[in-house]
Amino acid sequence: MKFFIDSANADLIKKFIDMNIVDGVTTNPSLLAKEGKDPIEQVKKILKLVPGPVSIEVVATEYGAMLSEARPISKLGKNAVVKIPMTRDGMRAVHTLSQEGIKTNVTLVFSATQALIAAKAGATYVSPFVGRLDDIGTDGMPLISDIVQIFRNYSIKTQVLVASVRHPIHVVEAAKLGADVATLPPDVLDKMFSHPLTDAGLKKFLDDWKTLQKQYGDDFSKAK
Ligand code: G3P
Repeated sequence: MKFFIDSANADLIKKFIDMNIVDGVTTNPSLLAKEGKDPIEQVKKILKLVPGPVSIEVVATEYGAMLSEARPISKLGKNAVVKIPMTRDGMRAVHTLSQEGIKTNVTLVFSATQALIAAKAGATYVSPFVGRLDDIGTDGMPLISDIVQIFRNYSIKTQVLVASVRHPIHVVEAAKLGADVATLPPDVLDKMFSHPLTDAGLKKFLDDWKTLQKQYGDDFSKAK
């Protein structure tokens, strides 16, 4: 499963890019607003920083206006993916853009029927929002299971991009279900590194080493 970072913060993105554990980035208007910087400049910075796909969302809601934003977005970088909301105008725009060879990510997907429609329209990615379904007292993960199964049944090429991820269990569940991508807020990705037994184990190794060093002094940096 690929990991994307769900963030518009260039420093946080760079931190994970430098470890080579991130395959792409997703942004949205709220994430760009949180940065409080010129959104076009910020997006250009991220496109340069990240070798993989970067989703950038249109804010127009009408077909023609969506295309007027989507085409310039697609020219900002070879890795630019245009994020389009799951609306009727949006799906018409996705169809036109796919015919022009422009990659799209259909966002705000909350049902399997919406995912099927997005795929039919020619979306490169569909983004079901699991956390926001959990927020209203339903379970978001069965939606991922349904979409993955349906796409497999018909060999649909559209990739399932699990979004609105809130904790590491969402990531594990998405991977078990065979989702193509999970887009992770930086704090969730950070939590995925940690385990108390790792911390306790490292402390014990270092304490034992200190005892040995008192006797012999050297460490491996001086090995010949
Ligand atoms: O990028 C879209 C999605 O991941 C938003 O997540 O936490 O605002 O529901 P959230």
